[in-house]
Amino acid sequence: MGQAGQNEFLGLTSRTKAQAQNVFSKQNGGTEEETRLLHFTYYKMSQFWKPGTEKPQILDDEEGGILFFSAPPSSSSRFGYSSIEKQRQRLPVYKYRNAILYLVETHATSIIVGETGSGKTTQIPQYLNEAGWAEGGRVIACTQPRRLAVQAVASRVAEEMGVKLGEEVGYVIRFEDLTKPGATKIKFLTDGVLLREMMDDPLLTNYSVIMVDEAHERSLSTDILLGLLKKIQRRRPELRIIISSATIEAKTMSSFFNTRRANGKTVEAIEPRKDPAILSVEGRGFNVQIHYLEEPASDYLQAAVSTVLSIHDQSFLDPAPQHCSRLFVLPLYSGLSRADQDLIFSPTPRGKRKVIVSTNIAETSLTLEGIVYVVDSGFSKQRFYNPISDIENLVVAPISKASARQRAGRAGRVRSGKCYRLYTEEYFVNEMSAEGIPEMQRSNLVSCVIQLKALGIDNILGFDWPASPAPEAMIRALEVLYSLGIIDDDAKLTSPIGFQVAEIPLDPMISKMILSGSLLGCLEEVITIAAILSVQSIWVSVRGVQKEMDEVKLRFAAAEGDHVTYLNVYKAFLQSGKSSQWCYKNFINYHAMRKVMETREQLKRITQRLGIALKSCERDTQVLRKAITTGFFANACRLEAFSQAGMYKTIKSSQEVYIHPSSVLFRVNPKWVIYNSIVSTDRHYMRNVIAIDPSWLTEAAPQFYHHQRGEKVAY
Ligand code: CDP
Ligand code: MG
Repeated sequence: MGQAGQNEFLGLTSRTKAQAQNVFSKQNGGTEEETRLLHFTYYKMSQFWKPGTEKPQILDDEEGGILFFSAPPSSSSRFGYSSIEKQRQRLPVYKYRNAILYLVETHATSIIVGETGSGKTTQIPQYLNEAGWAEGGRVIACTQPRRLAVQAVASRVAEEMGVKLGEEVGYVIRFEDLTKPGATKIKFLTDGVLLREMMDDPLLTNYSVIMVDEAHERSLSTDILLGLLKKIQRRRPELRIIISSATIEAKTMSSFFNTRRANGKTVEAIEPRKDPAILSVEGRGFNVQIHYLEEPASDYLQAAVSTVLSIHDQSFLDPAPQHCSRLFVLPLYSGLSRADQDLIFSPTPRGKRKVIVSTNIAETSLTLEGIVYVVDSGFSKQRFYNPISDIENLVVAPISKASARQRAGRAGRVRSGKCYRLYTEEYFVNEMSAEGIPEMQRSNLVSCVIQLKALGIDNILGFDWPASPAPEAMIRALEVLYSLGIIDDDAKLTSPIGFQVAEIPLDPMISKMILSGSLLGCLEEVITIAAILSVQSIWVSVRGVQKEMDEVKLRFAAAEGDHVTYLNVYKAFLQSGKSSQWCYKNFINYHAMRKVMETREQLKRITQRLGIALKSCERDTQVLRKAITTGFFANACRLEAFSQAGMYKTIKSSQEVYIHPSSVLFRVNPKWVIYNSIVSTDRHYMRNVIAIDPSWLTEAAPQFYHHQRGEKVAY
């Protein structure tokens, strides 16, 4: 679709994506009763719309009676080079080509603001390349906060330039490098990967221009990167930085790059020409009508589904209903496999209408052509970290006005469109915050601290941040790193553990687990576990066969917990000859397993580089669980014997937690467990849980458990 589709964008968070899929599939193939129920809800829904604003309806008669606008395909598989060239010239950013090149030539930092779809990401790196910024072996970098966006824009740009992806145009995401040193001129990469590159090349000398894209997202890595780039600039006056975004508060960014910080105090501006240039690309967006609910929706998921169906239903009034009887519903989120991504961007099958249920990735990161209707739930999944309980999780949280405007903007790209906001106008005007909170201020900072330490930045609290992190979160992070043995009493990286952990591109707790695995003789096993934990899930979720799935899971289940269960799955997968059919039969996600194997290979290479020995502990799961404990001791919990069934409390903060139903230890409830992560819905649920012996905790981290309570809390 993308180019040729009849698209719809639903601003749903990923938690509800699966549910929405389910509801939609019922609508398409479900019983009459279910369909009637949904229609009924639609009927009720349509009464919510404010009088005076329009009720959901078709804007005008469209080709084939299809509700959603169909933009001409832009893929080069259908059009030749000249057509692509014309398309490039039609983009709003094209008019500014010379202005942009002039600013980049004359200013150390340029801030370019332009609507999503105006051509910033795909065009600016090409303009720079055409102007010679990649000559003499230099590289033009363009960072993105999301991996999926990195892959999508890189392949788009390769296509526009008529080159093979991985040569002149390449990309790098964690565990995947599709570039050719010496040949690659334009390199797309995640901001996190660029930060890692700094460990080998602190001044990023390979790059002539670094474009920090999607800066308005204020991702953790983007903010760290901006702080570091500002430092690099002083050492490398020839380096050019472009900060581009859809809605950035250009002035804030500009003053950040324009001031120097000394001893925590902001001092005078640095010399002229170094003050950033600001350029605003005027879009040519079409009018988008905004509709609000008259009353708040009690269930935004249901409201979203109903709204889509109401838009869909209107088309039955159309004289040619046969063209639009079916919805073609696709999910869109960052962890999507390549094959599923292709579906998103490929043309909609004839007679179908595409409905895309997306996380906020479709807000600005990806441009899907031809969207006419947007249904905005008013929520997104956001990372929130509580330094008191030391729990970080993804929660469904209200979006900001800036995000709401972005979402609405997706509808007016190719013609006028409509946006249905599943909240009231009153809420939008009076309650929605203007801007989101930078991730820096709502994240666990463990990884951030270790990265800065590895780059030799010791005074982290005094670091020049675009937005200062909370001191409590910073102190927590230092505490955790200290107990993990990654930093010493002077808050410097320890040798070798601290430096080795920093080398491994994983959460420091996982990296620590890997290093302990090598000392304890189970590196083979721990890197498999680390690889599995880096994919979303190795199970496929198929609805309606829960019982069969549970039975199959039991075949692999280990009493020790999920990590050991994963090893059983991995071994069986290898024994099957890495068979996709075997995966299918066992409800295992074959693509995820392939990704696990690739990641495992990468980790093997990294550990070889660190010079640590690859050994297997065979069946000794105790050794393995000890290795896990040395990384994750901070996530230890004890079952509350005298309270509600299955309730645990975290040792460090007495937070109430429960074992997630997807865990093999659900209902088994061993007395002592440690978990990998928490998901919060109605309760805090622990995911990826193993049973431990409490004595391992004090063994693994004597300072930590003394430190917390002044006594050995494990007893
Ligand atoms: O970065 P920005 O949002 O300003 O725009 P862009 O991503 O450079 O997109 C410019 C144009 O390229 C849009 O009209 C998209 O339709 C098109 N594009 C595409 O067709 N396929 C992609 N994978 C990326 C962009
Ligand atoms: Mg972009």
